[in-house]
Amino acid sequence: MTEHAGVTDDEANIPAVPPSGRSSSPAAGPNGDPAKDPAKAMDRMYRVTRHIYDITRRYYLLGRDRMLERVVTTDDTATLEVGCGTARNLIRLARRPHHGHLYGLDASHEMLETAAGSIRKAGVDEIVLRQGLAEALDARKMFGRDHGFDTIVFSYCLSMVPAWEGAIEAAMANLRPGGQLVIVDFWDQADLPGWFAAGLKKWLSLFHVFYRPDVHTALTKLGDSGRADVSFESVAKRYAYVAIVNKR
Ligand SMILES: C[S@@+](CC[C@H](N)C(=O)[O-])C[C@H]1O[C@@H](n2cnc3c(N)ncnc32)[C@H](O)[C@@H]1O
Repeated sequence: MTEHAGVTDDEANIPAVPPSGRSSSPAAGPNGDPAKDPAKAMDRMYRVTRHIYDITRRYYLLGRDRMLERVVTTDDTATLEVGCGTARNLIRLARRPHHGHLYGLDASHEMLETAAGSIRKAGVDEIVLRQGLAEALDARKMFGRDHGFDTIVFSYCLSMVPAWEGAIEAAMANLRPGGQLVIVDFWDQADLPGWFAAGLKKWLSLFHVFYRPDVHTALTKLGDSGRADVSFESVAKRYAYVAIVNKR
């Protein structure tokens, strides 16, 4: 058992914390080694940068507002962002007059602490935050929901999750039939001039972010499999894509 900021983590418990709380990762490495523990790795990555995250990322996490335009909410919908980070996207959704129930999941305790503070500061309705891994998503255990979500959002998250295949499968399993995955992430920059794309790739790598072609291919295959209808939109000359995955 470990303790952070006055909130107890119990490795045996499913994470279920109020927005300001912390809990353990169900898939955390047994020895807390950041190399083997995705949650600790994310904490290490964001411990300092989370304080300047929203200001700096606005310049290169393009397409997030376009992605949000694709998210349909009503008073009754349940929308989850996996890898919600600072809750930047969830707060925008919460400002809608009809935002329904909003949930955020993130591996990083550090990011969730910033998210909880931002939500308080924004003065929006409740957004339920939980700590855990995308690939271990379980609507019932993590959020006490008996039914799947209407929408699950991945915003610049899949490209940095080592177990991204598991994350997509877990999201599909926790989506109601007819529900949507809405994804924004880096694309291949194919419509940008070669020299510009090459420089951009180098610059993005400084922030540990990059295009992961396998994710795009897997989403295309998901569409081909008949389990979902999948469409892609280009953002800024294929700098990024917005993918809509409608579960059948
Ligand atoms: C690039 S940030 C994007 C944050 C936010 N979605 C946005 O658009 O501003 C990626 C987020 O994914 C989280 N993350 C990385 N791996 C994860 C995993 N396996 N499970 C859940 N969250 C993860 C990180 O902690 C981080 O907050």
